[in-house]
Amino acid sequence: MRVGVLTGGGDCPGLNAVIRAVVRKGVGVHGLDFVGYRDGWKGPLEGLTMQLGVPQVRGILPRGGTILGSSRTNPFKIDGGVERIKDNLASDGVDALIAIGGEDTLGVATKLADLGVSVVGVPKTIDNDLSGTDFTFGFDTAVNIASEAIDRLHTTAESHHRVLVVEVMGRHAGWIALHSGMSGGANVVLIPEQAFDIEQVCDLVKKRFETQYAPIIVVAEGAVPREAKEGENGMTLLNQETDAFGHVRLGGIGDRLASEIEHRTGAEARAVVLGHVQRGGTPTAFDRWLATRFGLHAVDAVAEHDFGKMVALRGADIVRVPLLEGTGELKLVSPAEYAEAEVFFG
Ligand code: F6P
Repeated sequence: MRVGVLTGGGDCPGLNAVIRAVVRKGVGVHGLDFVGYRDGWKGPLEGLTMQLGVPQVRGILPRGGTILGSSRTNPFKIDGGVERIKDNLASDGVDALIAIGGEDTLGVATKLADLGVSVVGVPKTIDNDLSGTDFTFGFDTAVNIASEAIDRLHTTAESHHRVLVVEVMGRHAGWIALHSGMSGGANVVLIPEQAFDIEQVCDLVKKRFETQYAPIIVVAEGAVPREAKEGENGMTLLNQETDAFGHVRLGGIGDRLASEIEHRTGAEARAVVLGHVQRGGTPTAFDRWLATRFGLHAVDAVAEHDFGKMVALRGADIVRVPLLEGTGELKLVSPAEYAEAEVFFG
C-alpha cells in the first residue's frame, strides 16, 4: 500500500517526530511505501510531492517545523478542489492519506473521508483546543516557552515598577495563557472564553503595586474586552480580516491593553508579544514522546484500513476516535478551570 502524508495549518513542534514514527513503523513493520505531500492540502491539490522514506526521516526527531512544509489551503474553497485531490491521489498511486493538523486540516480530512477518501488524522496544535484528545503535541513546548518568558519578565517588571503584558497565542481557547500564566505566577490571565472588564484589570494592577511587586498580565491573542455599552468606560473591539478558513487574523490586544492600563492607572506598562517564538525550535521531551506515539498508532490504523479515524490521547492510552469527534467541537477552558487561576490574581 502507498500512503501519502501531509502536514497542514500552523507549524508545531513535534510534526517531524510524527512523520518519522509513521515512516519508520510503516516501512519497518507494515511494509508500506510513502509519498510526502508538500504544504498541507496544497500538495494533493496541486500534485506537489516529495520522496518520503527512512533516509528522509533520519535526524528529524528533535527538529521543529515540518520537513513537508505547511499551508492553510482549504480545498473546499477552491472550485473543483476535491476532484483535483482525488485525481492526484489516483495518479500518484496513493491508496491512503495521513493528515496531520488542527481543526481546519482535520476538518477537511473529515469531509474528504465522507466523500470516500481513505484518511487517518493526527491531531496537532499548540493551542490544545481539539476535543477528543486530552492533549495535542506542541502545546507543552509552547507553554514552556511562554512560562520561561514570564519568569524572565518578572525581573524587569519588579526592577522598573512596570506592568508587563505578555501576549500569547490562542484565538479561541486560553489554554496556553492559563497554563503558562499559572506556572509563571502571572497576576492576571485573560482568555478568549471570558470577556474581561478593563476596569477590573486596572484594579488588580493597582492592588499588585500595593505590594512591593509589579504585575504580569498574560493575555491570549483572542481575549476580548466586555463590549463597551453606551456611557460605560470600557474598551472597544477592532475590526479584523479573515483567512481561508474564516479565522480573524489576531494580534494587537497586548499593546492595546498596555496603553489602556497606562492611561487609566498612570503606571508605566509595556507589552511583549511572544508570537511565533512559541511554535519555534525543538519540541520538549513530552511533545516528542506524544508525537511519536501518535505517529506509531496512526500508521497502525492505516495498515488495518481503519479510516475516518483520528488518534487521540486518553489518560495514558492512545485510542482511535471518529474524525468528527475530534474536530466537531473546540475544547475550551471551563469557568471552573479559570477560577483556579483567579485565586492568584492581583
Ligand atoms: O493554530 C495555531 C496558531 O499558532 C494559533 O495559536 C494562532 O492564532 C495562529 O496559529 C497563527 O497563525 P499564523 O501563523 O498563520 O499567523
